[in-house]
Amino acid sequence: MNSYCDLKGKTVLITGGANGIGRAMVEAFHDQGAVVYFCDLDARAASTLTQSRGAGLHFTKVDLMKETQVRRWIALGARRSSRIDVLINNAAADPRIPFSKMTTQQWDALFSRNLRAQFVAAQAALPHLGKGSSIINFSSITVHVTPKEMTAYVSTKAGIQGLTRSLARELGPEGVRVNTISPGWVMTERQLKEFVTPKVKKMIRTVQCIPELIQPSEIAQVALFLGSEASGALTGQELLADRGWAHS
Ligand SMILES: NC(=O)c1ccc[n+]([C@@H]2O[C@H](COP(=O)([O-])OP(=O)(O)OC[C@H]3O[C@@H](n4cnc5c(N)ncnc54)[C@H](O)[C@@H]3O)[C@@H](O)[C@H]2O)c1
Repeated sequence: MNSYCDLKGKTVLITGGANGIGRAMVEAFHDQGAVVYFCDLDARAASTLTQSRGAGLHFTKVDLMKETQVRRWIALGARRSSRIDVLINNAAADPRIPFSKMTTQQWDALFSRNLRAQFVAAQAALPHLGKGSSIINFSSITVHVTPKEMTAYVSTKAGIQGLTRSLARELGPEGVRVNTISPGWVMTERQLKEFVTPKVKKMIRTVQCIPELIQPSEIAQVALFLGSEASGALTGQELLADRGWAHS
């Protein structure tokens, strides 16, 4: 694993940190010596993570669709550490729903979970961000390759790219950087259980420039870079961590 000494002792907040890519990022930032606050709905998965690690890891059960819970969680992290160095808006859902069957309620709920939560978290974090702070918003390869039955998901993820670009402009004068990570298809536990059949694996290996499947820990490495001052020149950017899929 790469070492970013500037991350030691930094305060890092991660949404959806109990599973998948979020969990890999919690582990990676904690390994760097950062003080990590993560939230999730899945308290059971979170407890296996906190129990396996030492001090410097703090979990709060939060439903990101509930604004007051998000603001309370951000305030908690900021109060304990006085400043937020890295905020990672990671949590999302990716339901497959044919467009003709999509209800307005499903559309609104997905925007609330995937996009509105990122706005609320960033706004709540604002008073605690300063020169050198970094916000990392999670979008997706799907904005580029537009799979079927993911219209609402892709729309939320395109919105996140707009949020990133606009916020980078607005927060730039304060020295705050805002970037997007758009992962390719990542082999999380849930993706492997629900979607990644042998046929899908074959397809991924065909469309990526480099055939090897992407692991959650590799996306965490991209997040470490964006959280560290090593990426000080980057803001308003989308980093496509997709082994070249969108390039094909
Ligand atoms: N895995 C992939 O292939 C892939 C590809 C492209 C983009 N992404 C993006 O990467 C990010 C992480 O994806 P993942 O695959 O690790 O997801 P995941 O489903 O494995 O984990 C998401 C976590 O977020 C939590 N969460 C969801 N809704 C929540 C809510 N309302 N309140 C609190 N917690 C909530 C879940 O409980 C879960 O622990 C997402 O933004 C996703 O859209 C993932």
